[in-house]
This record gives sequence, structure tokens and C-alpha cells, in this order.
Amino acid sequence: MDSHALLLVLSVLLALFNLTASTEFYVGGRNGWVVKPAESYNVWAERMRFQVNDKLAFEYKKGEDSVLLVTKEAYNTCNTSNPTINLSDGNSVFVLDQSGPFFFISGTPGHCAQGQKLVVVVMAVRKNPHSSPPSPAPAPAVGPPSPAPSGSHIPTPATSSAQVSAVSAFSFVMAALFIGGFLL
Ligand SMILES: *[C@@H]1O[C@H](CO)[C@@H](O)[C@H](O)[C@H]1NC(C)=O
Ligand SMILES: *[C@@H]1O[C@H](CO)[C@@H](O)[C@H](O)[C@H]1NC(C)=O
Repeated sequence: MDSHALLLVLSVLLALFNLTASTEFYVGGRNGWVVKPAESYNVWAERMRFQVNDKLAFEYKKGEDSVLLVTKEAYNTCNTSNPTINLSDGNSVFVLDQSGPFFFISGTPGHCAQGQKLVVVVMAVRKNPHSSPPSPAPAPAVGPPSPAPSGSHIPTPATSSAQVSAVSAFSFVMAALFIGGFLL
């Protein structure tokens, strides 16, 4: 294998790792999702760095509690009546699929008001990751970065997925080129 091929392989591996690396966070650690956690969920969340595609694992007794993804307003008022998502299987894994804030409250009456609530803010996708592989040809254009709306630094989901698809397509082509070269 010559050094050029080796470089290609490394690029592909790096790109794939970038796309698939994700962390699973156990909300509340050993306590899990409970009314009175040893440490406030939001104090815990502020210490963490959440990235797109990371996961939150909520553990609680099925039938006695649940996890509701709600709007900011419902979070602030502990309103359980109209959740965006209702997780109630006792071992709920939630994928943080975009940047920005996610609001969770307990679905059991009274629990949220006693502090069983969590805000997770997922970091914005970096525009120019340092680890992006060197490209032999111009990379597919993903369009100019749109200016953020005033008062917000959160990129639109459309921009994020376009970037991921471009990197993904690039990795795939590189992998195909390498495998092709290796077999011939
Ligand atoms: C809870 O939210 C719903 C809409 O999602 C609203 O109709 C209801 O009035 C709210 N309840 C309270 C107590 O604010
Ligand atoms: C969530 O789903 C469970 C199971 O379907 C249900 O019993 C519960 O009432 C739901 N909670 C809310 C707040 O919608």
C-alpha cells in the first residue's frame, strides 16, 4: 500500500469517526430520573458538553414516571398537558438530533414543580471542523452560511444536515475509491 492510499484510508476513517462519534449521558447518574435527585439536573447539565447526535438515557420505574419533551413555556409552567414527545417505557433513550435547547419535565403530576425538570443545550455544529479530511477536488458546495437571525446563534437544522450530507457523501466516495484501488 503506498502512502497516498494510506492517507486516503486515514481520511476516510477520520471522517467516519467524526460522523458516528456520539456520547450517551445517563441523566441523574445512579439516581436516574427521580423527583429529588442528589444534584439538580440543570446543575449537572451545565457541566456537560452536548453535541448533535449525543443521547440522553432516562431511567425510572415504568408506570410511575415518564419523560416529556415540551416547549419552553410548558417547561417554565410545568404544564404536562400537551407534550411534544412522551417517553414512558422506563428506560428512555432520547437522541439530541439538532443544536439548540431541549426542555424535559416529568409527566407525573407534581414532580416537575418539585424540580424534576431538565434543560439541555446542544452546541452548534462547527462550520470548519479542524479534522475535516484534505480534499483532492473541490468539495460539494453546501451554500453560503446564512446570517444568524438576530438574538439567536443557533444554525437552522437545514444547514446542519446539509453539511453532514456533504461530508457523508465525501466519505462514501473516498471509501469507494479506496476499496476500488485495493481490489484492482
Ligand atoms: C397547558 O398548555 C395547554 C396547551 O398546550 C393550554 O391549553 C393549557 O391552558 C395550559 N394549562 C395551564 C394550567 O397553563
Ligand atoms: C404518556 O404516555 C403514557 C403511556 O401511553 C400515558 O399513560 C400518559 O398519560 C402519557 N402522559 C402524558 C402527560 O401525556
